[in-house]
Amino acid sequence: MNTTESGTVTTEDPAAGEANGSAGDRRETILTGDRPTGPLHLGHYVGSLRGRVELQHRHDQTILVADLQALTDNAGRAADVRRNVLEVVLDYLAVGIDPTVTNIALQSAIPELAMLTVLYLNLVTVARLERNPTVRAEIELRGFKRDIPAGFFTYPVSQAADITAVRATLVPVGDDQLPMIEQTNEIVRRLAQLAGRPVLPECRALLSATPRLPGIDGRKASKSLGNAISLSATPDEIRAAVRAMFTDPDHLRVSDPGRVEGNVVFAHLDAFDPDRDEVEELKAHYRAGGLGDMTVKRRLETVLQDMLAPIRRRRGEFAADPGAALAVLEEGTARTRETAATVLADVSAAFHLNDEIITTSIGSSRARIDHAKSR
Ligand code: TRP
Repeated sequence: MNTTESGTVTTEDPAAGEANGSAGDRRETILTGDRPTGPLHLGHYVGSLRGRVELQHRHDQTILVADLQALTDNAGRAADVRRNVLEVVLDYLAVGIDPTVTNIALQSAIPELAMLTVLYLNLVTVARLERNPTVRAEIELRGFKRDIPAGFFTYPVSQAADITAVRATLVPVGDDQLPMIEQTNEIVRRLAQLAGRPVLPECRALLSATPRLPGIDGRKASKSLGNAISLSATPDEIRAAVRAMFTDPDHLRVSDPGRVEGNVVFAHLDAFDPDRDEVEELKAHYRAGGLGDMTVKRRLETVLQDMLAPIRRRRGEFAADPGAALAVLEEGTARTRETAATVLADVSAAFHLNDEIITTSIGSSRARIDHAKSR
């Protein structure tokens, strides 16, 4: 996939070299984020983390630890959310996010995001939010009716604030997040209408070339369902998870032909086994019959143990010095805030909030006034 009818999707192609990578040669501004509701897992790794590590040297990347967004459906678990902020930062560092080239920022420490959200809420209707397919799916998953937290219902708007606060043009996300990109671009266009000129750039989603990874039970991998392998899993946890993976329920005897489609073990081999040819041979053998689940699982276990061992080791090293990891977060947050303040000045101007500069107005901090005047 390269474009949708609205032209907002790009697919990351690992086979494409530096020169013609489908993210393009132009240096772009990237913004992504994760909710700190638990440790990050293999689904995050194939869906976006792996891509971010690769993209960070060619683009200007900011990663947001979206703790405010996490609270929108976890207000009762606020202490967990806070604790997981550090865990997520450790996950980033462990997989190779380099804080000298990537800003890692904490959403709740950037009040400009809250102000942008409040302003953008004026550009979005309840009807439009109700049509957002991701929100609809999540409402169903969580069994919300009229009791949906208003913050949760409007989180796409807050996510638009995240994306636009750094003037991002590229957003690496899973396909479930595509409606958020659409919603963001609608807000950007409404803002341009309001101002009579472009204020912020539109953005594109960058989808991973690897299809979504199922959880070990074949359902959507999720922290809350406990069916995902976390990046910090121990060797025993990895072994147990692979053993428990759903395969083909009709593949009863080794000699039976088996199905590869919808088979969780093969989905993981497709995502992680570096030997593509060998995986294709295994698939052919499995389909024909004569290849047992245990043999395939043993191979997958080796692949995952090999891949996760260095990540776990690096994570342990960073975890030994949480002060250093938090300093990384603090610096990334400060840099991101500087940019967000200039965006807020521009958006405030579109709403005429800077027309009369009084010291208590939102656009009144020195940096914002200077920025507004320089336009
Ligand atoms: N909604 C994203 C998720 O649940 C997390 C997120 C928050 C995000 N802000 C973002 C993703 C901005 C991309 C851009 O995974």
